Amino acid sequence: MTRKVIFDTDIGIDDAMALLFLHGASEVDLIGITTVFGNASLADVTRNALYVKHRFAVDAAVHVGAGESLGQSMFEGYPDFVHGDNGLGNIDVPDVESMASSTDAADAIVAAVRQAPGEITLIAVGRLTNIATALERCPELPELASELVIMGGAFGFNGHRGNVSPVAEANIAGDPLAADRVFTSGLKTTIVGLDVTQETILDDSFFDDLRDNAGDAGGFVHDISRHYVNFHESSTGQRACPMHDSSAVAYVLAPELFETRAAGVRVVTDGPALGQTIWSDPEVRYETGDW
Ligand code: BDR
Ligand code: CA
Repeated sequence: MTRKVIFDTDIGIDDAMALLFLHGASEVDLIGITTVFGNASLADVTRNALYVKHRFAVDAAVHVGAGESLGQSMFEGYPDFVHGDNGLGNIDVPDVESMASSTDAADAIVAAVRQAPGEITLIAVGRLTNIATALERCPELPELASELVIMGGAFGFNGHRGNVSPVAEANIAGDPLAADRVFTSGLKTTIVGLDVTQETILDDSFFDDLRDNAGDAGGFVHDISRHYVNFHESSTGQRACPMHDSSAVAYVLAPELFETRAAGVRVVTDGPALGQTIWSDPEVRYETGDW
């Protein structure tokens, strides 16, 4: 049985890898791509989505989403040092003739879950602004969507707590309020955080292998990964990078590979811990607070 998936993305380098991973998965029916600013501007990430759709014949409409956060963000500008000026590692990304849909991202999500209640899996690998907006427009979304799987956050497992601050991960830090609204909405959510993605490392020999043996998609992934690997080498000394967004796709395709914990999660929405994800252990009785 195939699963209907909407992919919500700030399509930069690892997002593009995840999109091709989904596109190649026979058990997935990708019914929409929704864009959100983050790794680059909304215009750039939407252009990147249309480019990947066109080049690899991805049969899914692109819906334009949020260009700014709902609440306070940790960032001004875009992480060109990670994803390049154009979000795709500065490879040549020509404009293509395909057009984005006139239905915006949040409306597309709402329409899809209303049309196929209980059947839609949402995978979100950027800021959660579009998902929070869809919840605002459709408060019954938690009952209508099958599940949400995100790449974001960090809980301290395997020593991973943050990549943009000592306690925060980029997707959550870019719109902490949106993330907190999503995590407290009742929508069944699985969070694939840095705890997983920074333990799952792709090295240069992997990308070389893709270039040599995986056709046009392999060549593309190799080319966009150059800037990404160079950036990570400058901080870790290794010619390798974490597998962030593809780890959320991997969870959807093969959840048996993952160990999960049931927990309530809240997000810090201001102060020095802005963007921190806090999980409450259901086995602990906390003396105060609504956890
Ligand atoms: C996340 O932030 C973005 O830069 C990546 O695409 C990924 O979704 C990693 O913290
Ligand atoms: Ca991303």
